[in-house]
Amino acid sequence: MTTDEITDLLTEAYVDELETVMNYLTNAIVLDGIHAEEVKESLEEDVQEELDHARMLGERLKQLEESPPGSEAFEASQSSLQPPADTTDVRSVIDGVLEAEDEAIETYRALADAADDANDPVTEDVAVGILADEEAHLTEFRGFRKEFPTD
Ligand SMILES: [Fe+2]
Ligand SMILES: [Fe+2]
Repeated sequence: MTTDEITDLLTEAYVDELETVMNYLTNAIVLDGIHAEEVKESLEEDVQEELDHARMLGERLKQLEESPPGSEAFEASQSSLQPPADTTDVRSVIDGVLEAEDEAIETYRALADAADDANDPVTEDVAVGILADEEAHLTEFRGFRKEFPTD
């Protein structure tokens, strides 16, 4: 059985995925310099995965007789993922990705828990599948972060 908590989390996650698509795509385009290439390639791959996540969430909302939102419902929140003024500042983008992936992981854990409580195994399965992808993204960018000393 579905609950408002489940449809709210699905909707929130849908919007967050689309904001992530925009910011990963932008940063994959704008970054410059010798440290940027691998990060850009990884962002480019993740754009496709995040878009697939949005699609799965939107389809689940449809199955629950809800609609995913259009752009007028959109409120941006990823301030740490805005393209850096210095386009060689790869580290700020990596830090922004780590923050976004951490937040995504939190959302999918909450969705999986809510779905489990509501005995909604299909939504739980969607949440757990996406959660695994986000943990892989986080691990990859933690690796990139190691190349940049903390000041
Ligand atoms: Fe995602
Ligand atoms: Fe991700």
